Amino acid sequence: MNTREKISNFFPSEKQIPAEYQVPYQEQKEFLINGEIRTWNGPAQEVLSPICLNQDGKVTPKILGYYPQLTEKEALEALEAATKAYDHGKGPWPMMSVGDRIYCMADFVAMMKKKRGEVINLLMWEIGKSLEDSAREFDRTVIYIEDTINALKALDRDASRFAIKSQIIAQVRRAPLGVVLCMGPYNYPLNETFTTLIPALIMGNTVIFKPPKLGVLLHRPLLECFKKSFPSGVVNTLYGEGRTVMGPLMKSGQIDALAFIGSSKVADALKSQHPMPHRLRCVLGLEAKNPAIILPDADLETTIKECVLGSLSFNGQRCTALKILFVHQSIEKEFLAKLSLAIEALSFGMPWEKGVFLTPLPGLDKVSYMKALVEDATAQGAKVINPNGGQSNGTFFFPALTFGLKETMRLYKEEQFGPIVAVTTYQDIKEPIDYMIKSNYGQQVALFGSNPSDLAKLIDPLANQVCRVNINSQCQRGPDDYPFTGRKDSAEGTLSVSDALRVFSIRTMVAAKESDLNRDIINDIVRQRRSQFLSTDFIL
Ligand code: G3H
Repeated sequence: MNTREKISNFFPSEKQIPAEYQVPYQEQKEFLINGEIRTWNGPAQEVLSPICLNQDGKVTPKILGYYPQLTEKEALEALEAATKAYDHGKGPWPMMSVGDRIYCMADFVAMMKKKRGEVINLLMWEIGKSLEDSAREFDRTVIYIEDTINALKALDRDASRFAIKSQIIAQVRRAPLGVVLCMGPYNYPLNETFTTLIPALIMGNTVIFKPPKLGVLLHRPLLECFKKSFPSGVVNTLYGEGRTVMGPLMKSGQIDALAFIGSSKVADALKSQHPMPHRLRCVLGLEAKNPAIILPDADLETTIKECVLGSLSFNGQRCTALKILFVHQSIEKEFLAKLSLAIEALSFGMPWEKGVFLTPLPGLDKVSYMKALVEDATAQGAKVINPNGGQSNGTFFFPALTFGLKETMRLYKEEQFGPIVAVTTYQDIKEPIDYMIKSNYGQQVALFGSNPSDLAKLIDPLANQVCRVNINSQCQRGPDDYPFTGRKDSAEGTLSVSDALRVFSIRTMVAAKESDLNRDIINDIVRQRRSQFLSTDFIL
């Protein structure tokens, strides 16, 4: 079967789905508020999978089930539960010792691991991520939680001593902020939600978390784990229309930190509703249009491999994806020919197929958007280079290598967040640099070349435009020990295992002028273990 035929016969019938990947219809009525798993009997949101089924030649997205569409009332109940559990910092969770909070988190991760198979299968069905990548997302999240526990131990060990400066005795620790609202994106609904939720929790904050519209059901098996591992009201879940449930939370002024991964438009709308914005700490992961700059002496084998991975892993649906490639005119022909061949050779199919790379997109609208971007570019003179570029069937869209971008085309500036490899050429290196200076985004760049001196000349100015300069390597977030952030409209705050602990806490100290009385008081408190804060306990 050639590629076109394979695309036309892309989707299976219900019977062709292998038994081990069948997914039962999900009637999710549960949501977690104040330590109770409550049942919702109101309106529900139907969940359509990116995976379509072929029913007698008609291709339609599989219906996976539904989840609650909660209202303002439940949102305010979740807020009340979280504020009560925090209790102005006097609640059992923020007052708990770091060691005991770590114990609860370890308990959670042990329970979470038992749900691996169920979560991975739902993740695959809900967002169309390949089974292998869904498993990778789950495992990376488990490692992230374990690393977070270890990073907190290290932080606490460093804080378990006193300092004496200018006759002031002090102990400095990190204390929680209050109620944190966490919202993750659909492309990493588990991992990216948990990279804020977990550090926020372990630092002693209470949390309300709202999964993205696509990526709710996969959290269902974990509700019980949250309920069992943490005190009542410490973790609360909300589902439904963002406008209905998020607005009242922000307007209340009782959200102390907003952790949001999504678009800057939504982030701005949320922030602007807070009555005292100076009280709101924000940790935001937003849009990006990461460029690759391919120099004349680039090693094409590595460059093509990294550009394909960078542009098309998870069908280009990564904020870190390479979204525009600047190739030097002198190697344009060879580069395009090789890139086209590499794209045409990519495997595509159902997410459970072994080694599959390209999979269906979430919704017919997404395919229409891809088509509109390509049509806009070709109408203005761009060309689709690869023979099957832009072929589609239902929710599947074969990557379009679109060449000859100009400033007036939507693809030049818009973040496509999908399988379009957008390429333009340059003669003078100033052209891609100017592009980056003028861009609204400032996350990362990938440079491809062999000459150290040429690369060094680019590294220095570009390090002041973005927050990660990758050399002969695609852009990416990981490993999670490294800082992940961006400039301009791309981010606010920095995430990494250790940065996230800082971002969801504030340095607080207890200080006393050196005197016999104060020394005696501090010694007594420490020796008699009268305080969690003023303590030299060392977590082993
Ligand atoms: O969507 C943005 C993700 O943070 C990208 O993470 O580079 O590990 O795929 P990744």
